[in-house]
Amino acid sequence: MTPGGLLRQLAIGALALALPLTAMAESAPIVIKFSHVVATETPKGQAALRFKQLAEEATKGRVKVEVYPNSSLYKDGEELEALQLGAVQMLAPSLAKFGPLGAKEFVVFDLPFIFDGYNELHKVTQGPVGQKLLRKLEPKGILGLAYWDNGFKVMSANKPLRTPDDFRGLKMRIQSSKVLDSEMRSVKAIPQVMSFSEVYQALQTGVVDGTENPPSNLYTQKMHEVQKYVTLSNHGYLGYAVIVNKKFWAGLPADIRGQLEGAMKAATEFANSVAQKDNEDALVAVKKSGRSELIMLTPEQRLAWKMAMDKAHKEQMNRIGADLVREVYKETGYNPSSKTM
Ligand code: LMR
Repeated sequence: MTPGGLLRQLAIGALALALPLTAMAESAPIVIKFSHVVATETPKGQAALRFKQLAEEATKGRVKVEVYPNSSLYKDGEELEALQLGAVQMLAPSLAKFGPLGAKEFVVFDLPFIFDGYNELHKVTQGPVGQKLLRKLEPKGILGLAYWDNGFKVMSANKPLRTPDDFRGLKMRIQSSKVLDSEMRSVKAIPQVMSFSEVYQALQTGVVDGTENPPSNLYTQKMHEVQKYVTLSNHGYLGYAVIVNKKFWAGLPADIRGQLEGAMKAATEFANSVAQKDNEDALVAVKKSGRSELIMLTPEQRLAWKMAMDKAHKEQMNRIGADLVREVYKETGYNPSSKTM
């Protein structure tokens, strides 16, 4: 063989070797790890799976979404760090949990009684104030893609909670939010910050006396089995922002990013269409289980909670940003001495 022929043979051999590798690299899907802390049957759990299905379909398998529910990959706190380090690509933490990122404004959503219902909430999450808040995440290397609803919280304990005075001295588990800390202190309870994955056991063993969560979380974590009373107070909102690592998102091929944005839009519509019904169904299931007694508040009792918990608004206003709080009040018409809802 001539030297030229040998070179040609080597080149063909190298090409043959390289080809499958290139083909393999091209067919290896982009993996999005989506970690969350709640059960699959919750609004967030279902919406994460809906996003997976839509994203994989839209990208014809070029993207694979791996959903890790129930803190199976990371617990609260850990998951935000993992996102910033790029160990996961997508999360949907509750709005109460953005404080450790330095985005303290998000706790505005935790202010007790600030929303009278989903319509008022959507004025914020689906309006300019919500968008402005999401943009605050960008300097932290995070992109906020959407708000996903969960619902309005109930309060549970082993004693009936009807008046603000009933909370006195109770150890109440809260998410890591300064506003929720103020909320519990406003009724003389002792707030205890704890990861979601630890709440059931803490209630069961008496490490804490009670907690607050939307019915969908209470029911799917079986908290009602270790709490004698559940007060249907709707005293505050719990929902999510879907977030991604900004560098990861910017590095995606433009066509894929567009397809994923479409999938996220549809998953968001799905999430926000099932959340209310899921919470209603969860309450029915709690009632049916007979494990805890459901307590309804009279309008006067509920007003007494609202007036007591207004202290959290006063205490946290400046920390959150008085302008932002006023913008939200403008959308929702918050009035601490009105009985609405
Ligand atoms: C909680 O910790 O109570 C919630 O944020 C859990 C969740 O993600 O809904």
